[in-house]
Amino acid sequence: MGGKVTGKLKVGVLISGRGSNLQALIDACAERDFPAEIVLVISNVAGVYGLERAKKARIPALVIPHGNYPSREAFDDAMDDALRAAGVEFICLAGFMRLLGAKFARGWEGKLVNIHPSLLPAFKGVRVHEQVLDAGVAMSGATVHFVIPELDSGPAIVQAEVPVHPGDTVETLAARVLKQEHVIYPIALRMVAEGRVKYENGRVVIRDRA
Ligand code: GRF
Repeated sequence: MGGKVTGKLKVGVLISGRGSNLQALIDACAERDFPAEIVLVISNVAGVYGLERAKKARIPALVIPHGNYPSREAFDDAMDDALRAAGVEFICLAGFMRLLGAKFARGWEGKLVNIHPSLLPAFKGVRVHEQVLDAGVAMSGATVHFVIPELDSGPAIVQAEVPVHPGDTVETLAARVLKQEHVIYPIALRMVAEGRVKYENGRVVIRDRA
């Protein structure tokens, strides 16, 4: 995986919505020297804007509606099949709003990352910015992390901090955090694709900071 002198790391991106993080990855991959390429986008929801973004970038995109499957595992298996058929080597979750089962997470261990709009391990789960504002903390941020079966719990690859201002609303805070998400997701993917970051026994190992 990654680190190959020729060929770029083949990435699959899973989305459920507007896909602004997908766009950040598409834009990064459009740079000639970027070491990864997106070969497949999967959405579990039809008609979302992220699918338009894939289409515009001429990236193959599939809708795999979770509701069509009798169980989480059957849905995960369908995604797994599609990803492997497309030659995907590495998966980026980008606003993908379904829990992945342990079998899928283990099957892609060390090759599956997510972006979460808080400084993990603080504020896991959903309604993150609401949780942050309710807690009254002065700092928030974003985290790109490896995915493990426990939700929002894998080790971080890159984090960015943003201030929480008095008077912030969910919208103003979300917008400030999102800007940083778009910065750090391509950075994290580059690090992984260059083989500078690895997942080993539940930890992130940085091989070479040069
Ligand atoms: C982002 O805030 C991401 O951190 C969270 O869901 C949101 C997705 O936004 N997991 P987008 O679809 O990438 O625009």
